[in-house]
Amino acid sequence: MRSEQSERDPERPRGCRGGVEGYKIAVIAGDGTGPEVIREGLKALKALSEKNGFKYETIEYDLGGKRYLKTKELVPDSVLKELGGMDAIYLGAIGHPDVKPGILEQGILLKLRFYFDEYINLRPIKLYPGVWTPLKDKGPKDIDLVVVRENTEGLYKGLGEFRDKGTKDEIALQISHNTRRGVERCIRFAFEYTRKRNKDKKLTLCGKTNVLTYAWDLWQRAFNEVAGEYKDIKTDYAHVDATCMWMVKNPEWFDVIVTDNMFGDIITDLGAMIQGGMGIAAGGNINPEGISMFEPIGGSAPKYTGRNVINPLAAICAAGMMLEYLGEENAARMLEGSVMKVTSERLKSLSAGKMGYSTSEVGDLVVGNL
Ligand code: IPM
Ligand code: MN
Repeated sequence: MRSEQSERDPERPRGCRGGVEGYKIAVIAGDGTGPEVIREGLKALKALSEKNGFKYETIEYDLGGKRYLKTKELVPDSVLKELGGMDAIYLGAIGHPDVKPGILEQGILLKLRFYFDEYINLRPIKLYPGVWTPLKDKGPKDIDLVVVRENTEGLYKGLGEFRDKGTKDEIALQISHNTRRGVERCIRFAFEYTRKRNKDKKLTLCGKTNVLTYAWDLWQRAFNEVAGEYKDIKTDYAHVDATCMWMVKNPEWFDVIVTDNMFGDIITDLGAMIQGGMGIAAGGNINPEGISMFEPIGGSAPKYTGRNVINPLAAICAAGMMLEYLGEENAARMLEGSVMKVTSERLKSLSAGKMGYSTSEVGDLVVGNL
């Protein structure tokens, strides 16, 4: 469902390619190295629009820790309203060393995910050629999977309470909230995605049915029921702890994994490491019928800020995911091809300061190879 607050005209198709206005892309460069990497993503976007003939405009929003420290504002209602009229949101990084942990995460990142009901967090885990992985004897053929993480429920719902806070009998409850509707729409998305991806046509449910017997009972029942509608998709189940093990030992067993918010958060950081690290890992917060937000998953990296050494490929890949979602599949493919050329032929490493090139030079290389 489109979020009710949304201002986006439902009659205006997303991807009104060739239309007078083109795509409206909100840019939240954010904190730390966010602006540096977003600049490179926008550079690639510009080149791709020229080569592929789509139009777009960007509208910048100043949100993040810097603004919060100055004004105490997180996301003003007026901004939420405006964002509701966009075709997509392109986000750099949110996080500031002087702001207490949790405030910006909940007040900006999670706020946007929830407000726009971006119920899927899509995280491709793909080892590009030439990229170092800590997994011995594994290569690009083995590491190519996608995690579909539920993005609006579970433990992230924020339900819970303290009892007898501050006493020695204190209890803290943190509740995982799973609705049949929320679980089913996520599972359905995962089946559709697995079919469209057309790789091994295999979907693995990653859960914890042996211990978390309420939540995962619901997940398993919903999964089995929906599976009945997708006879062409092979299904599998793995506990989350075992999933971590297999992702390291036999990542080639996975095609698409579907899981809840918390488990998805954890296994996608593991995934980011086996695909070469935070320099390359991108994700999409997707509402298939609404406004989606694309981001490098690495964070604001304060110690590298302003030094032109951070790797922009994650942000560039996030722009690629955004293009795919907007329907510019050709441009997305072109961009991925170029990123692969750059990783296989040019970069010495994906780590900040060790690439053999600066942030802006990596952006130029990607544009040059399109
Ligand atoms: C992520 C991040 C966020 C999350 C944090 C920053 C709230 O770790 O996008 O994975 O936990 O979802
Ligand atoms: Mn995370």
